[in-house]
Amino acid sequence: MEEQKPIGIGLMGMGVIGGQVAQVLTERAVQLADRIGRPIELRKIKIIESDFLRRQVQDMDQSLFTTSDEEFFNMPEIDIVIELIGGEHPAYEYIKRLLGSGKHVVTANKEVIAKHGAELRELARHHNVGLRYEASVGGGIPLIASFEHDLIANCIKGIYAIINGTTNYILSTMAKEGTEFSVALSQAQKLGYAEANPCNDIEGIDAAYKIAILATLAFRSHVHPDQVFCEGISRLSWKDFQYANEMGFVIKLLAIAKQEQNQIEVRVHPAFIPEDSFLANVDGVYNAVLVDGDLTGQVTFTGKGAGAQATSSAVAADVVAIARGIVNGQNVLVHLDDENKPIKPMTSVVTRFFMRMLIADQSGVLAQVAFTLGSRNISISSAIQKETMPDQMAEIVIMTHPASEESIQAAYADLTKLSVVKEVHNIIRVEA
Ligand code: HSE
Repeated sequence: MEEQKPIGIGLMGMGVIGGQVAQVLTERAVQLADRIGRPIELRKIKIIESDFLRRQVQDMDQSLFTTSDEEFFNMPEIDIVIELIGGEHPAYEYIKRLLGSGKHVVTANKEVIAKHGAELRELARHHNVGLRYEASVGGGIPLIASFEHDLIANCIKGIYAIINGTTNYILSTMAKEGTEFSVALSQAQKLGYAEANPCNDIEGIDAAYKIAILATLAFRSHVHPDQVFCEGISRLSWKDFQYANEMGFVIKLLAIAKQEQNQIEVRVHPAFIPEDSFLANVDGVYNAVLVDGDLTGQVTFTGKGAGAQATSSAVAADVVAIARGIVNGQNVLVHLDDENKPIKPMTSVVTRFFMRMLIADQSGVLAQVAFTLGSRNISISSAIQKETMPDQMAEIVIMTHPASEESIQAAYADLTKLSVVKEVHNIIRVEA
């Protein structure tokens, strides 16, 4: 390759992923240059003061680092900036400033892209620069580019995904070891799979960001995370797993996005899924996404949804895509949301339901429960009552036929008012 001016790279954030990305860009510089057609050079890394204590930072050329926004943002020799600081602020403001000043941006920031993607894509288009975010969903699994390019001729009917490794690890542990949620969570924290504050993962917020990004791409319509119905996994008990197992199901935190009659349905919640289905067999910290295209039929993706190496693969791929565009004099395609299609209200969503409740073990109680469900148009598909428990109580589980969310919520309110129903432990949607 004849001597060519390198494409300058700036990196923001030197955490575990930032460190790995810096290593890949440096150690694989020759390979990447070969694939781009021009060298790339990591020219500046913006860090925070405490990063200087990190061994990896100490081992690198110190002139690469700056803590100064002004120095970093005003370097004309940087063409592409990789944002890996995470969180909404100040990452959103940084990305805006970078795009506005004509820099290409690569980010792994799911929160910023989910909440502000429409504005940032428009800004990138306006300034004729690239904005890529392959690492924001599913770590190293090639999802974003697949929606942008390889699946583009399809009308996407639905996406069914396990896109949070922390919760998938916890649910797999509860299923396998019969542990309660709190035990499985602390195990995940000890192993470093769950963060000290696991709220975003266990409440489904992380998955909601990711499915909002995928739904936006798939349906070419902006889906904001606030429009995603979101229910986490903290209410699940090992008993739910036991019953699921008896009935031929497993429980997963699913992120679902569907398009029907120009309306988008998008939700994150635990669900019973058949034990022989593709997603049921994705265990531990792995992620998996099933896409239903009208031309392709079902396409499945699976792999490591997090971790420094897998994520660095996606970040490097985005850098290469933008750098190739620079070499060819063509900006990489920036996907734009064409429309704001209506979001189906959760109350109209129809699924089957699993219900587990504690009732008085007396004559006529099952009939009262059945009547309550029936009066809300909910038809029972099966019911199991286990042995009587202490205090003349019995646990029953009910599987319903398809019913609307609105009717199940109304039935739940009715059931809790019945004196013979001590507690409705859980109601879990069934995706069969
Ligand atoms: N916290 C995420 C997960 C990883 O558990 O899958 C980063 O997206």
